[in-house]
Amino acid sequence: MISGKKVVLGITGGIAAYKSVEVVRRLVEGGAHVAPIMTSGAKRFIGEVTLSALASEPVKSSLWDEDDPIPHTTLGQEADVILVAPATARLIGTYAAGISNDLLTATLLASRAPVILCPAMHTEMWEHPAVQENIRTLQNRGVTIVAPEDGKLAGGDEGKGRLASPSAIVSAVEQALTLDDLAEFKILITAGGTREQIDPVRFITNKSTGKQGYALAEAAVARGATVTLVTTVDREAPIGVEIQHAESASDLRSAVMSCADNYDVIIMAAAVADFQPSLPADRKLKKSQQITNLEIEPTHDFLIDLGKGKSSNQIIVGFAAETEELEKNAKEKLERKNLDLIVANDVTAPGTGFAYDTNEVLLITGQGKTNVPLASKRVVADKILDAVLGLRESKV
Ligand code: CTP
Repeated sequence: MISGKKVVLGITGGIAAYKSVEVVRRLVEGGAHVAPIMTSGAKRFIGEVTLSALASEPVKSSLWDEDDPIPHTTLGQEADVILVAPATARLIGTYAAGISNDLLTATLLASRAPVILCPAMHTEMWEHPAVQENIRTLQNRGVTIVAPEDGKLAGGDEGKGRLASPSAIVSAVEQALTLDDLAEFKILITAGGTREQIDPVRFITNKSTGKQGYALAEAAVARGATVTLVTTVDREAPIGVEIQHAESASDLRSAVMSCADNYDVIIMAAAVADFQPSLPADRKLKKSQQITNLEIEPTHDFLIDLGKGKSSNQIIVGFAAETEELEKNAKEKLERKNLDLIVANDVTAPGTGFAYDTNEVLLITGQGKTNVPLASKRVVADKILDAVLGLRESKV
């Protein structure tokens, strides 16, 4: 996928700069031509010689390169993709503002190639409204952001801000280079946990945050699919994704069933509640009204309806969040619900399932199973989509 492609790799001045060495190694091993640009800040964290030795050409840093009078336009025009890892808050702000004050920012502005930024910084900086606004501005311009991960930070503290893993970064580069392998697909994805009203202020829900569903939508649209996301989560849609909001299992069911026939693929990542209060109150219940005797009834499992009613080319994907007998329970659901693929995860495993940025899943089809080891939800999303693509090829 990346073989023979030119990757311009920008490295900026953050402690995570040392991790860019591993990214270079993997890209070069994959056959890419890596042209590194280091900012002056990056050189305080990592040796230029190391990068020059591992990359496909020596590091460039200056706009005043003696061999090439206009190095930024050469790099910008020749790049198949520009990757910045790590990307500091300064680089993100400068690029968002359209300022070119060094070779890297000039190259970014002098290029039409897809751009991938991999931010890395302390949690406080990452969450600062100015940084978040710059990120949104860049996403709106089509820049791919490989989100930082949660974990230990340079100061010994913990939080969001660690550079994404080399595998997530390389996977984003691969995606940027194969932008359209899902171009013929219309995909409907559901995300988040449903809320079943008890009264106007209380509800039954579950731990789902919708991250895997959003990652799927983001990955699918980046690969050229037409994507609709039906979500229970109050979060902006990834750029290019049509979004619909739903709250309860019944809302979600109406939204999905009313348009299911229009999609080639339906991915039910939402954690749909299995039970709902039988008689939701229209006024807030008082403690004295014996709320402990709440009557509940099962919700309608509409994944079964989707499996029954699917057309011959349609692919229906279900999820199974399990706490025991993962493979056995998931296989049973695959068959009972007449699915093409089930994505099973053991939600008791570390870093897996609800609310994490990472996931480990078992993909099961009628033909066999594949384990996807612990990785970012975006990487897992691409593996799920690869499996969907494989199923489609076997159907046509
Ligand atoms: N699902 C659905 N409608 C429901 C409940 C679940 O469409 N009312 C879908 C989910 O979106 C998910 C899949 O079914 O893709 C698996 O849901 P899960 O609750 O794990 O499966 P169940 O069949 O309810 O099995 P159990 O609760 O016994 O584990």
